Order: sequence, then C-alpha cells, then structure tokens
Amino acid sequence: MIEDIKHIATEAGSLIRDAFGTKFKIEFKTNESNLVTEIDKASEKLITDFVKKKFPSHGVLAEEGASFNMDSEYLWVIDPIDGTTNFAHGLPIFSVSIGVRKNSNTIAGVVYDVMNDIMYASELGGGSYAGSEKLSVSKNDKLSRSLLVTGFPYNIADNPENALEKFSALTRASRGMRRLGSAALDLCYVAKGVFDGFWEVQLNPWDVCAGKLIVEEAGGVVTDFEGNRTDIYSKKFLTSNGLIHNEIVNILKIN
Ligand code: IPD
Ligand code: CA
Ligand code: CA
Repeated sequence: MIEDIKHIATEAGSLIRDAFGTKFKIEFKTNESNLVTEIDKASEKLITDFVKKKFPSHGVLAEEGASFNMDSEYLWVIDPIDGTTNFAHGLPIFSVSIGVRKNSNTIAGVVYDVMNDIMYASELGGGSYAGSEKLSVSKNDKLSRSLLVTGFPYNIADNPENALEKFSALTRASRGMRRLGSAALDLCYVAKGVFDGFWEVQLNPWDVCAGKLIVEEAGGVVTDFEGNRTDIYSKKFLTSNGLIHNEIVNILKIN
C-alpha cells in the first residue's frame, strides 16, 4: 500500500513540477485569496483515477471535489497541492499530501515535497521516514528556545479564533515563528525536528491526514488547543515534540 501511495504522489509531483513557473488557469474559490489552479485539478484527477483503477472498492475525500465512496472501509484523503498560493506565485514550497484510512484510523501517510524531491512517509506502527532517513521530533524542552510554524485560513481577515492574537503571543514567547504556506510540510518539519511545534485554526482533513501520522510516528504529540487528543477533523490543531506542549497550550488558552 505505502509503495502505491508513494508511486502516485511521485507522479502527481512531476506533473506539478513540470507546470511550476508556466502559465496556467487560476480561479478563486471563497475569495480572492483562496485559489485553485488547473494543476490542482489535474493532480487530483491523476490520483483519484489511480485509486479507482487500482483499488475500486476504496473511497476518496479530496479537496477539489473529487470525493466518492466516502463510507467505504478504506478512505484516501487527498490534498493534490498543499501550498497552492505558493505554487501560483512561483514560490517553491508546496507538497502532495495523501493519507489512507482504514475504518477511520489513518494507516499510511505520504507527503511529497515536490521541489526538493523528498518523500515523507509513514505507516501506522512503523515510524516515519524522509526517503531512507528515520525521523524523530526535537528534544527541545523550552518554548523560549523553540522555533514554531503556523499558517492562516483563507478567512484570516475575520481573525477566526483570535488567530492573530495567538500568533502575536506565541511569537513573543518563542525563538521565532515561521509561516511557510503548506501545512502538510509544516507537520513533516516537526516530525524531522526542524520545528518544535505547529498550530493552526480551521485546517481541513486533507491538510493534516498524512502529516498527523508522520509527526505522531516520529514521536510528536497532536492535540487541540486545550491539550486534548484530536482527530484530522479538528478545527484547532496543535502539534509539538511533546516537551513544550503544555507551555504552548497555556498560551493558546488565554489568547
Ligand atoms: C493551505 C496550506 C496553508 C494553510 C492553509 C491551507 P492549500 O492549503 O496548507 O499552509 O495555512 O490553511 O488551506 O489551500 O494550499 O491546499
Ligand atoms: Ca491544503
Ligand atoms: Ca490544496
């Protein structure tokens, strides 16, 4: 199964890489910040056609609308380009994210860092890898020495969940805060120990399905903002190396 997921993520990645920097059609979704390109749609079609052909009994939940058989035993949760704004503007930070769930448990996850050609992958109980390198979260136990990463939803102008106050408070309390633009890659960087923590409001299951497994299998902790274990449908998503988790929760609670 994992080899099949890596295979189709690689294929989608080369389609995206070939299109990077060329002219392609861009449409708005909910507002002028929320984009979809014809390449997002082509990547999604490539992956879903593969699932239909190779695993006809499986279902798909995919960002750009190609969902089907969503109550089947196996569900593929697909973000065909995570980091569409970066992709559309020519910034080479984006990924293909594919998680596979069996009876509502994620059993495999792949995040393909397209421009760096790095395949992040994990199987439940089997650890996480970037290519052949085994991943583990950082050992940093002080928020003041931590590098954090976040992202903003497309309605950030409405400041949902006081995200901007939370951003300000955590920026002050940490060594620094980054905003890369691909939540799936943010999670992989926590798994790798590059970032010590990641938080974001109003993510969608396709943003986090694969990355959640990858970070957990690398020893990371995933909760909501109150510190309760959470699933891929959570609208308040926090992950860290575990050691700085309570410090972050305490700040998120009061801001
Ligand atoms: C977005 C990215 C971004 C995050 C947004 C997501 P998209 O996904 O993951 O980092 O901040 O909340 O919607 O739209 O590029 O697939
Ligand atoms: Ca996404
Ligand atoms: Ca996307």
